[in-house]
Amino acid sequence: MERMPYREELDVLTPRTEVRERVTSSDWRTGLPVLASGSVVLRDLRASDAPSLFALLTTEEVARFISPPPTTVEGFERFIAWTHRERAAGNYVCFGIVPHGMDTAIGIFQIRQLEPGFGTAEWGFAMGSSFWGTGAFIDGAKMVVNFAFDVVGTHRLEARAAVANGRGNGALRKVGAIQEGILRKSFLRNGEYLDQTLWTILDEDWRRSKSVWGPRIH
Ligand SMILES: CC(C)(COP(=O)(O)OP(=O)(O)OC[C@H]1O[C@@H](n2cnc3c(N)ncnc32)[C@H](O)[C@@H]1OP(=O)(O)O)[C@@H](O)C(=O)NCCC(=O)NCCS
Repeated sequence: MERMPYREELDVLTPRTEVRERVTSSDWRTGLPVLASGSVVLRDLRASDAPSLFALLTTEEVARFISPPPTTVEGFERFIAWTHRERAAGNYVCFGIVPHGMDTAIGIFQIRQLEPGFGTAEWGFAMGSSFWGTGAFIDGAKMVVNFAFDVVGTHRLEARAAVANGRGNGALRKVGAIQEGILRKSFLRNGEYLDQTLWTILDEDWRRSKSVWGPRIH
């Protein structure tokens, strides 16, 4: 999450068949598919998500280990518009996390390419703290990782988490990422360089671990 472009200038496992059907008829660059699991829906962000994201992602506990989020609702509106432009340009994907029964996003999953074509990509995530520990993260994370490997064409998915970010590292371990090493003093936050843990998931490992998550539906 730390290195995600949050700058102001600037989504039962759905049944995988549903993901595939949707993207064969519409490229993700023109609009993200809606992915649904038991607890959350992932979809493109909307301007109307700005107040909710502002309220939930700017708290000290959420923002502590991530790049500074926008500081106003308008800043989040600009960020949301930026996510749409970058998606349309084929550089970046940002899903809003919407719990069932709600209309607005309470968090985001981002994927950005680290090389043209997304072969190696980096993902990050943040959710309002009232939703931590609810299962929303793991449900959404599985769909996002599937999306990266099956739809976007990623083979290596990286994530960086500040070593001091226990929850972020715990979440990555839980989703099955492998810790590859420590990136020393790689993240500047509040005037201090922090060490980060580099976590990775390879498409082949993910497909092998499918039995953990349940059989493929097709
Ligand atoms: C990262 C985030 C999306 C994860 O969502 P979440 O709902 O908190 O995640 P979960 O509760 O499903 O999983 C976190 C795991 O870490 C564990 N954990 C919590 N604190 C921990 C700590 N200090 N050390 C190690 N593990 C810890 C939890 O027990 C949980 O594992 P479990 O379900 O097996 O018990 C959320 O915490 C968040 O938005 N954090 C702020 C933004 C952020 O830091 N983003 C990540 C940057 S890499």
